[in-house]
Amino acid sequence: MNKKHIILIGFKAVGKSSVARSLAQQLNLNLIDLDQEIERSHKNLSCREIVEQKGEAHFRELEEQTLERILKSDPSIIALGGGAILNLKNRELIKNHKIVHVTAQKSLVFERILAGGRPAYYDPRMPMRALFNELWDLREKLYQELAMISVENTHDPETTAREIAKQLSGKYRENILLLHGPNLNLLGSRDIKQYGSGTLIDLENYVRDLANKNGYRLSCYQSNSEGHLIDLLQAKAYFHCGIIINPGALSHYSYALYDALLDTRLPVVEVHLSNLDEREKWRRQSVTAAACIAKIHGKKLDGYREALECLTEHLNNEKN
Ligand code: DQA
Repeated sequence: MNKKHIILIGFKAVGKSSVARSLAQQLNLNLIDLDQEIERSHKNLSCREIVEQKGEAHFRELEEQTLERILKSDPSIIALGGGAILNLKNRELIKNHKIVHVTAQKSLVFERILAGGRPAYYDPRMPMRALFNELWDLREKLYQELAMISVENTHDPETTAREIAKQLSGKYRENILLLHGPNLNLLGSRDIKQYGSGTLIDLENYVRDLANKNGYRLSCYQSNSEGHLIDLLQAKAYFHCGIIINPGALSHYSYALYDALLDTRLPVVEVHLSNLDEREKWRRQSVTAAACIAKIHGKKLDGYREALECLTEHLNNEKN
């Protein structure tokens, strides 16, 4: 099972937290902010107050314990405080995850820090600019060494997050999109003979478990609207390596959905719960299947297992 987190590192005030928030939204992953976690588990004192009241060494100890704990959670986007990677143990803890260095224009960062007041760990006897420069040069080098990629947060956090996702996508090939079309939200109360008795949630949980066991993550969406499904494909395909879709009745006539699937340039497997060859004649034709590497039907829930197997086999062949 692949349990890799995407960990954002970088200097204080480069905008890691807002980039992390956007990235978590775009990739549909949990967001964890290390500093916020420390504050929550420490009577809601701010990190600055902890350093001021208990000293930096105590803060660093807390940071290490908290990091160790949050790394045990499901794959997430984790934003680290600027100094977290100075600790060798923390570097060891994160080294096998996907580390992203977020940076920004040095002068801009200095201005932001200045505006926020002198950081608690800045030696009061030293001029702030000189201290900042020294820390910046030292840390930026370290961040770059540790990270898989470095991305500058020049524009808005959303654009930066997009850029990170884009750069990681070559190395980020575990996200599968599971899409359901019209009326499939009613599974469980539709014709049990055709579709089985499980609900859509049961079905999604079943496929998600299987996917996770094979080192993949699953993002699930259902819509009764053709346009919304196309919007979803346009917005989400980018962050996924393959698609499993049950388009419902849209498969029989939607050339727009066919085009949208084709345009993703991703391998797609079409699946239907019922046996289309044994039903009305108009169900035998699937225009969307022509954009897919396979069409599986008539196997109820087990068809999804087969679809996942077919897709992951295809993805593995692509990798080799
Ligand atoms: C279906 C088959 C379609 O013909 C029908 O319109 C559906 C469900 C299936 O899973 O068997 O809604 O896609």
